[in-house]
Amino acid sequence: LGAGPLAGRHVLVTSGPTHEPIDPVRYIANRSSGAQGTAIAAALRDLGARVTFVTGPAEVAPPAGVQVVAVETARQMLDAVRAALPADAAVFAAAVADWRVANAAGHKMKKDGSGILPALEFAENPDILATVSQLTEGRPPLVVGFAAETDDVLRHATEKRARKGCDWIVANDVSPATGIMGGRENAVTIIDAHGAESWPRMDKTEVATRLAARIATALDAKGQK
Ligand code: C5P
Repeated sequence: LGAGPLAGRHVLVTSGPTHEPIDPVRYIANRSSGAQGTAIAAALRDLGARVTFVTGPAEVAPPAGVQVVAVETARQMLDAVRAALPADAAVFAAAVADWRVANAAGHKMKKDGSGILPALEFAENPDILATVSQLTEGRPPLVVGFAAETDDVLRHATEKRARKGCDWIVANDVSPATGIMGGRENAVTIIDAHGAESWPRMDKTEVATRLAARIATALDAKGQK
């Protein structure tokens, strides 16, 4: 048995962007680097947890000492998350694409010289955080979501917590002026059933360390392993 406050606990973390294919060689994606999710997985590992790390195609390498499940699309991510359950806690740090291309081609699309342009149709992706939060069987006792907002952060994040059904929301202001998106630092507010707790601006690795410690405390309070 390992040591640390999370020894004997299984924690699931999603991280990175998803890629949604247009055809076999093209995709739609977003600018998530996977930095915050990777730091969280490493911090949970350092507290002794067994970590399953479900990651989209991220820029940052996954941490050592965790079970890495690499996926591309949102639907693959949901399948991988389901397969990784049960877990004592789940942290959804991935920037999942809201939409996928409904009419993705099975072969590389070609310019045919006719001047007719392809038209992409979209379908909504499953909301992985909401799906897991609302499981009637096998819901992790602690489910943590993120909310990256640019305005009215507290109100939007509080609404998001209720709508999705998760226990905590880690909210951050990603307005361009903050320099947080793609930067080294983050300033977050943790929203739970009791209210909001704002942390000072700090390194993303420090946010991860503090969040992992808060998860350990919460699981301790919930009792037996
Ligand atoms: O609704 P919004 O995308 O702002 O919610 C962000 C939170 O929901 C993040 O924790 C993200 O990982 C999660 N999410 C998800 N599946 C989606 C969309 C968001 O798990 N399809």
